[in-house]
Amino acid sequence: ESIEKGGYEHFMLKEIFEQPRSILDSMRGRMIAESDHLMMAGIREFENKFVNANRIIIVACGTSWHAGLVAEYLIEDLARIPVEVEYASEFRYRNPILNERDIVIAISQSGETADTLAALELAKSKGATIFGICNVVGSSIARATDAGAYTHAGPEIGVASTKAFTAQVTVLTLIAMIIGSKRGTLETTKLRELMVELETIPSKVEEALQLNEQIVQISEQYKDATNFLYLGRGYNFPVALEGALKLKEISYIHAEGYPAAEMKHGPIALIDEQMPVVVIATKDSSYEKIVSNVQEVKARKGKVIAVVTEGDTTIPAMADHVIEIPETSEHLMPLLSVIPLQLLSYHIAVMRGCNVDQPRNLAKSVTVE
Ligand code: G6P
Repeated sequence: ESIEKGGYEHFMLKEIFEQPRSILDSMRGRMIAESDHLMMAGIREFENKFVNANRIIIVACGTSWHAGLVAEYLIEDLARIPVEVEYASEFRYRNPILNERDIVIAISQSGETADTLAALELAKSKGATIFGICNVVGSSIARATDAGAYTHAGPEIGVASTKAFTAQVTVLTLIAMIIGSKRGTLETTKLRELMVELETIPSKVEEALQLNEQIVQISEQYKDATNFLYLGRGYNFPVALEGALKLKEISYIHAEGYPAAEMKHGPIALIDEQMPVVVIATKDSSYEKIVSNVQEVKARKGKVIAVVTEGDTTIPAMADHVIEIPETSEHLMPLLSVIPLQLLSYHIAVMRGCNVDQPRNLAKSVTVE
């Protein structure tokens, strides 16, 4: 087993550090910016269906559901098709309204999650086209779909999903770009810019991983906290949910992810000097708004751990801790902003003596309801 861990103390840490490579593997053969090559076999087969889709419904569970939320922002913005993201377990019992012009995308790392499989079978019976995004080749969900794309992240052993998430987001980004360009909602210049930027993501993830030592120090200070709040807006909102889920799963600290502006409708009541608040506040279209959210947290003496874009000076002047990540397009930011949150949850869990790779009560793949 120690050989399989490749010198890392845990599979989770190894998998976090594999991300520059696994993200590249998710793009391999599908995109070469230099030669304007952007193609995905599974989509090509169903190109007309995608171009004329009425609606895209994403069904998934856990971390895969968070990847689906990122895709909602991407597909609506770039391809202008309405997207709904559903918990598979709710969708399957809701008597959902579906027809032949709807595409259902099922996202699952393992391809074996019982609720996701049942949700797609239901959608299929109502005539929708089913597209799968799975990591495990030949899995039940991969076999049950009409078409699909593998994430090519390689085996993920740690129960808490890390590299599978960034691989899912990479594939979903490519899908949004492909449909957007086919539908003419994404201009060629913008498409090219995104392709060039996406190619730089593996090396930017590599840079973000160099924050590891700094995150160890922050983890030391907060390892005994009993609650954590994670805030983000726009593309970073699903990242806030994912950061909170990672911490819950492996450190057993109660954590909540929230859209930063919703904080005033509840969680703000919890903020005092004991409450660490992780704010993902990178430079994007909601930056000014999130600056005020940070001020609201500081006014209530919360401890702010801010993830910011390199070179930012406004948020660092207010935050207690600043984690700087490289600049990128807001469409691609989740691929970078999730990295420090994965590391934070990992180190806090290790410091608390938790079984990081096999947390209590959780399973890597949930094949029962
Ligand atoms: C379990 C795992 C999570 C995963 C979820 C969905 O809860 O512990 O890491 O996100 O199932 O799994 P799937 O394989 O469908 O992505």
